[in-house]
Amino acid sequence: MIALASDHVGIELKSAVMEHLDALGLPYKDFGTYGTDRCNYPEYAYQAASAVAGGECEKGILICGTGVGISIAANKVKGIRCVCCSEPYSALLSRQHNNTNMLAMGARVVGRDLALMILDAWLEGQYEGGRHQVRLDQITQMEEAGKIK
Ligand code: RB5
Repeated sequence: MIALASDHVGIELKSAVMEHLDALGLPYKDFGTYGTDRCNYPEYAYQAASAVAGGECEKGILICGTGVGISIAANKVKGIRCVCCSEPYSALLSRQHNNTNMLAMGARVVGRDLALMILDAWLEGQYEGGRHQVRLDQITQMEEAGKIK
């Protein structure tokens, strides 16, 4: 299950992402927002990120105007590694090296087709572990103890 969330700016691109996930046969749950009324992205980032951190969803996709605010908010939830991407290379590498569990994109930054290329690269990427796990463990230490041991 993939968690989805956006603010009002991201609604249209989120619909395109849903259509794409439907075509791929990948199930998703939309945590809002559900309309175009102005709203505050942390509330929706929190819902989706909590579902990923808690195990209800395996991964998550977030969209706001730039992808920046909603990714910052998601990364405040313990266990979330959210990448904000506007090109496919970083999306792929963020899976391979950083084991990202959430992808954020900016609806005012990328068009539909580029967004879907980014999404495909991110979905296809497999975490490589090895030397990268040492670094992720250090990030977890920072999250849990406020420092690297
Ligand atoms: C909303 O105007 C905008 O600030 C939001 O979508 C996002 O870009 C924040 O990072």
